[in-house]
Amino acid sequence: MVPHTYTLPDGRAFVVRHIRPDDKARLAAGHARLSEESVRRRFLASKPSLTRGDLRYLTEVDSVDHLAIVAVQASDPEALVAVARCIRLPERPDFAEWAIVVGDPLQGLGLGGHLARTLAEEAARVGIRGFTATLYGENQPTQALMRSITRDLHGGWAGPGVRELAGELRAAA
Ligand SMILES: CC(C)(COP(=O)(O)OP(=O)(O)OC[C@H]1O[C@@H](n2cnc3c(N)ncnc32)[C@H](O)[C@@H]1OP(=O)(O)O)[C@@H](O)C(=O)NCCC(=O)NCCS
Repeated sequence: MVPHTYTLPDGRAFVVRHIRPDDKARLAAGHARLSEESVRRRFLASKPSLTRGDLRYLTEVDSVDHLAIVAVQASDPEALVAVARCIRLPERPDFAEWAIVVGDPLQGLGLGGHLARTLAEEAARVGIRGFTATLYGENQPTQALMRSITRDLHGGWAGPGVRELAGELRAAA
């Protein structure tokens, strides 16, 4: 259930909530802090900054066909450090394409897993039964995340080095 507070084992706390239209500047600043490698893994391309159109699209969501969950530092709510989103597939509306990014200094600590589970629960609540993802084949953390929130994960190669995965949400069971 969002909003809520999530605390890492080291005590750092984050507010986890739905994205809002007034998050544009926070999202742009969070994007600017990402390493080139995290941007490349998230967007499968280089993307030095988000355009005004990107920011509108990424923050003005309806929470039914397009859901986005963010984590902001509890001690500094202007610091947006992670985003997980999913967008319903027009050709298969019970499935949604999902993507996630966690700020580099916070990766590997559990925040991505928590955000992924939260997004899956929110998606299941609006009738989404499965997630698909397009990712680099070497992206082990994302594949681990996807395995943890889905069952029957399957997929194939969508292009050189790029995999397309799909699975039913455990949260939708
Ligand atoms: C993918 C990403 C969101 C994961 O977030 P995170 O906070 O680092 O993830 P967590 O610490 O919750 O770990 C998630 C899983 O990945 C595994 N993992 C973490 N780092 C890993 C690594 N370097 N190699 C292999 N597995 C790893 C964890 O063990 C965990 O698996 P488990 O649930 O089976 O234990 C984050 O690494 C990221 O932002 N990467 C760049 C952007 C990206 O790749 N986005 C996905 C595109 S769709």
